[in-house]
Amino acid sequence: MGCNMRKCWWHGKIAYQIYPKSFADSNGDGIGDLRGIISKLDYLKDLGVDILWLSPIFASPFIDNGYDIADYRNIAPVFGSMDDFDELVEQARKRGLKIILDLVVNHCSSENAMFKKALKDPFGKEASYFYFVKGKDGRAPDNLRSYFGGSVWEKVEGYDDLYYLHYFAREQPDFNWNNKELREKVYEMVNWWLDKGVSGFRIDAIMNIVKDTSFPGLPPDNNNDGMCAANKMTAKLSFKAKEYLKELRDRTFLGHDAFTVGEAFGLNDSILPDYLGDDGCFGSIFDFTAREVFEKEPGYYAYPEVDIAFYRDSNFSMQEKANTLGFVAPIIENHDEPRAISLYLKPSQQNKHGAKALATAFMFLRGIPFIYEGQELGMTNTRFDSIDEFNDLSAFEEYRKCKEHGLGDEEALKVLNLHSRDHGRTPMLWDNSVNAGFSQAKPWLKIHQDYETLNVKAELADPDSTLNYYRKLTRLRKDPRYVECFTYGVFRAGDTSDREIVCYNRHSDAMDIMIFVNFSDSERKIQLPEDAQLLISSEKAELITGTLTVQPCSAVVVRIR
Ligand code: GLC
Repeated sequence: MGCNMRKCWWHGKIAYQIYPKSFADSNGDGIGDLRGIISKLDYLKDLGVDILWLSPIFASPFIDNGYDIADYRNIAPVFGSMDDFDELVEQARKRGLKIILDLVVNHCSSENAMFKKALKDPFGKEASYFYFVKGKDGRAPDNLRSYFGGSVWEKVEGYDDLYYLHYFAREQPDFNWNNKELREKVYEMVNWWLDKGVSGFRIDAIMNIVKDTSFPGLPPDNNNDGMCAANKMTAKLSFKAKEYLKELRDRTFLGHDAFTVGEAFGLNDSILPDYLGDDGCFGSIFDFTAREVFEKEPGYYAYPEVDIAFYRDSNFSMQEKANTLGFVAPIIENHDEPRAISLYLKPSQQNKHGAKALATAFMFLRGIPFIYEGQELGMTNTRFDSIDEFNDLSAFEEYRKCKEHGLGDEEALKVLNLHSRDHGRTPMLWDNSVNAGFSQAKPWLKIHQDYETLNVKAELADPDSTLNYYRKLTRLRKDPRYVECFTYGVFRAGDTSDREIVCYNRHSDAMDIMIFVNFSDSERKIQLPEDAQLLISSEKAELITGTLTVQPCSAVVVRIR
C-alpha cells in the first residue's frame, strides 16, 4: 500500500503556509520579514502545526512576489539576512518546528545572473540553460499563451528573429531542464539549502519543466486570440516529467530525508502513482482537484460558482485514489486563491460557524493538511474598493480581460473581489491596533475590513473563536489515541446524496472515526452505535443513546467503533 509500507517523519504532521510578505513586519517598512516570523513561532507552535512552508524568501525583483528569483542563495534584503534565516531555523528547531522552503526552478528571474549573461550572448553557454529559439515564418516559435497573459515568447533585444521562453511573466524565463549542467546547478543549490538545515521544499509549478523542443504549439482555445494556454501543453507532456523529477529526488531529497510537496497540477490517473508513495517523485502533492474546474476557463469572469458539494466531491475523488498510493496534501486555500469561506460557503455561513464547519471537513482528510495563514482566524475575502488597491499582476490582466469581455468597472471589480489571488495575500491580522498589529507602517497590501474583531489577540481571548477551535482540531488530529487512524486510516466516503452534508470515515484496524458536517440550515439527527463517542463538535451537539443531534452549519467528529 504505497507509503504505508515505509513510515516517514512527516506522516501525521500538520503544515502551515507562511506568506512572508504578509505575515509579520518587525522593522516597520510595511512588509513582513524573517524576524517577524521568528517573533510568532510560539504562536505557531501553540496552534499545533509542525511544518512551516515559507513562500519564496530569496533575492528577487518581486515582479511575481518572489516567485521570480534573482539569487537562489541569498535572502531578499526586505526579508532580512542569512543570519536571520539561520536564527529562524534554529528557533524553529528548538520548538520542534520544521522549515520548508519554496523551490522555484521551472523558471528564475530575468535579473538572475545566468539569464543576464544569456541575454548578452544568446548562443553561449548560459543561453543553453534557457530556451532561446528562432521564430517560425517571421512569428514566435509557437502559439502558447503564458499563465499571466500574452505569448510565452519574448523577443531578444537586438535580434530580429530570436525569442526566449517564459511560461509565466516575461520577467520569469524558463530553465531548460534538458540541459544536464543546468540540472546539476539546481541539485547543488537544493543540497546547499538542505545542508543548512531546511527540512524540505514545496516545489513550484514543477510540471511545467517538460517542453517539446520542436515547439509545435496547440490548436487555439476559447480566447479568440489564436493562442492556447501553456498549461494544456504541460498537461500533454506531464507523463515525461518523472524522468527529471526522480533524478532530482535521488540526487537531493532522498539523502536528506527531506519532506517535499509538489505543486503538480493536472496529474491524470495513469501518472498519479509516479508522484505519491514509496517510489513517488515527492513526499506529497497538493490536492488541486477543486481548482481544476477554473483552469478550463478563459478568465475569472467565466469562473463557475461553486458550493460545498463541489468541494466535497473534488476532495473525495482524490482521497479515494490516494488511499492506495500515498499521502496528498489537502488544502482549502493558499497564496494563489481567494479565501475558502468566501468561495465555498453561502453568504449566511460566511462567519465563524461556517469557518469551523469547513475546518472540520478539511482537517481529517487523509494526508498532510496545510493550513494557510489567516485561515485559522476564519478570514474571508478582503473588500477591494478599486482596481488600484490590488497588487497581483494577474489581477490587472484579469481586469483587462473582464473589460474586454464587456464588463463595466464595477462588474469587473466584483469579479476580482471573488477570485483575485490578493485575497490570500492581505496581511495577517494580529490585533485590533492600527494595521492590525502587522506593521507600524502602511502595509504593502490592504488590511482586511474586519480586523477589529477578526484577529489573533481577540480570538485567543475568546474560547469560542475559530482560532481556538483550530487549536482543538490540531490536537485531536495528533491525539495519541487517534493519531494512527487519522494518519494511516483508510478514507471512506459517506453518503453524498445530500449536497449540504459532508460525511466521511477514517477506518483503521483499531477503530472507525466519522466526520459529519452539516452545511444545511436545519438540524440533523444521525443514528450511531450506542457506544459511539463524540470527540469534538463545532457547536453544541447532543449524543443520547446513539442518537446524535447536529446543529445547522456545524460539524462533529465521532468515534463509531
Ligand atoms: C506558482 C505559485 C504562484 C506563482 C507561479 C509562478 O503557481 O504558487 O504564486 O505565480 O507558480 O512561479
